[in-house]
Amino acid sequence: MKTQQLNTSDTDLQAAACILKNGGLVAFPTETVYGLGANALDPEAVAKVYEAKGRPSDNPMIVHISRASDIGQLTPALSQRIIKLIENFWPGPLTLVVPKKAEVPDITTGGLDTVAVRMPDDKVALKIITLAGCPIAAPSANLSGKPSPTKASHVIDDLDGKIDAIVCGADCRVGIESTVLDVSSEVATILRPGIITAENIEAAIGETVEFDPTLFADGQGTLGLNGQGGLGLNGQGEMNSPAPKSPGMKYKHYAPNAQMTIIEGQRDRVKSEIERLKVLNERIGLKVGVILFEEQAFIEAAHDFFSNLRELDEQNVDLILAGALSDKDGVGFAVMNRMLKSSGYNIAKV
Ligand code: TXA
Ligand code: MG
Repeated sequence: MKTQQLNTSDTDLQAAACILKNGGLVAFPTETVYGLGANALDPEAVAKVYEAKGRPSDNPMIVHISRASDIGQLTPALSQRIIKLIENFWPGPLTLVVPKKAEVPDITTGGLDTVAVRMPDDKVALKIITLAGCPIAAPSANLSGKPSPTKASHVIDDLDGKIDAIVCGADCRVGIESTVLDVSSEVATILRPGIITAENIEAAIGETVEFDPTLFADGQGTLGLNGQGGLGLNGQGEMNSPAPKSPGMKYKHYAPNAQMTIIEGQRDRVKSEIERLKVLNERIGLKVGVILFEEQAFIEAAHDFFSNLRELDEQNVDLILAGALSDKDGVGFAVMNRMLKSSGYNIAKV
């Protein structure tokens, strides 16, 4: 298939919307990462998204809307809590998991009785959705398992020839995917951390927010690690236990081609350990890349992390040494969640 590269002119966005309306696939920018869109209410279109990405079909999609009130097409009723969240955070990088209406196809939600909905804070995305005139299912526009795309060139690298069109817009402002918050039951629970933090959400709704316990599982899938980062998948990329509520969390994710090790500990020791390992590995002929963000520079880390992984892959490094971010529950924690997955939960403490 020939993939059209479109720009963000009115004519091109109109063309993108037309493809979506007709059941085609279009990748487009959002403020978080690029998404791969399809008509969320068209099961055949959604099936093509799974195929293009090589995504397991029990991993549901986020449905994107361009007017907050359109959530009414997807869910039967809005609680006070949901209304407050929408007022405070939409448009923006907060995805709400809510009970689904029967009109939302099972394939869109991976067979779940809930649907994940978000209104992105990006002019191009909003315009495409509005012009398409339907809710748009859009997972991140990467091949399943690869780092999420934060630039148009990343999408081209992964999906050229597999989808109908790519809208080549600006680089993504946020750089990691939206916070996924389950508000379909009693306690609001973060299923995937993002730049909208538990603290931000608690301040908006005046209720305690919990984290899905699997976010704190160790490398064997058992619980009880400290929240500084001991989460884990096993080598096969699947959690052993317990079952994560967000199906996407159980698959191997964001992996660079290189092997990756995270070094965790006191800042100076992390720096010198990275230097030491770099020298040792270079001495045996390996090409080593380093990812070490400034202390507390969590927003910047979010912005750069995925694109750093892709750059290092392009440079064909054999080994990536990354400094852990010390943050228990905020933006740094959200980046750590991705970093841990990228490394296959390979952490060395110093
Ligand atoms: O920022 C984002 O959210 C980006 C942009 C494109 O909007 N999209 C994105 O989609 O990250 P995706 O498909 O890569 O991640 C969606 C996550 C997965 O972990 C999935 O399992 C979870 O949301 N999810 C979707 N529907 C769900 C549901 N009904 N219940 C629980 N988790 C759900
Ligand atoms: Mg994704």
